Amino acid sequence: MTRKPIIAGNWKMHNNCAQSKELIKGIREKVDGLDIAKLPEIVVAPVFTSLGAVNEEICHCGCGRIKLAAQNVYYEAKGAFTGEIAIDMLKDFEISYIIIGHSERRQYFGETDEMINKKAKVILDNGIIPIICCGETLEQREQGVTDAHIAKQISEALKGLSADEVKKSVIAYEPIWAIGTGKTCDSTEANRVIKHIRSVVEKEAGKEAADAIRILYGGSVKPETIVEQMAQSDIDGALVGGASLKADSFAEIVKGAMAK
Ligand code: PGA
Repeated sequence: MTRKPIIAGNWKMHNNCAQSKELIKGIREKVDGLDIAKLPEIVVAPVFTSLGAVNEEICHCGCGRIKLAAQNVYYEAKGAFTGEIAIDMLKDFEISYIIIGHSERRQYFGETDEMINKKAKVILDNGIIPIICCGETLEQREQGVTDAHIAKQISEALKGLSADEVKKSVIAYEPIWAIGTGKTCDSTEANRVIKHIRSVVEKEAGKEAADAIRILYGGSVKPETIVEQMAQSDIDGALVGGASLKADSFAEIVKGAMAK
């Protein structure tokens, strides 16, 4: 089973329009000349207010080399939900992916598995692909409940989705203790958890979906770690935070994923 790798940059709450433009231009310059046949899918997720500016820059880049993602969406279509954004509004841009269930959204904005499931459904119904994040805290890891916790997060996120919908979705395994800390999860352990996630997907949606779904690793991914991470059997790419904010390091990560 060949799964097309993805390197996705999660810019989080960084960069106004001008800064976003500068960053995407820098990335574009660095990936433009690379062999498209070997490139992973390159995805960038700027803040909502920069989606238009980044979209414009991406359009100048050869044949969809870089794809656009949003960092969140609300599951209601419209209405009195001050501060939220609906899928139809995101469709003003050429969005390919939407990140949902990031641990920061769960931790600071009280997102639950149920909300994440509703978001996944709305996204797929609109022909966009969700990047569903999951991951354990350090405490959960120390208590030995990592696998059970992640199984629950994934089962609930995928509830009610068809096997076809699951197949095209993307999951990102991001141990919370590895996010923004510089402490990467050991590659073989990340691969083990990702295999476990695949077994949960198989239980929920069948073997074909489990073999096809792309599962990324996230948590302090750097140019120095990516080659070893991509060498693992079940790691299909990376969701990159800090190192995606500099064109140089992001491009190096993209290059590091070209061998897979
Ligand atoms: P990091 O963030 O690469 O800065 O650890 C990853 C993420 O939160 O997606």
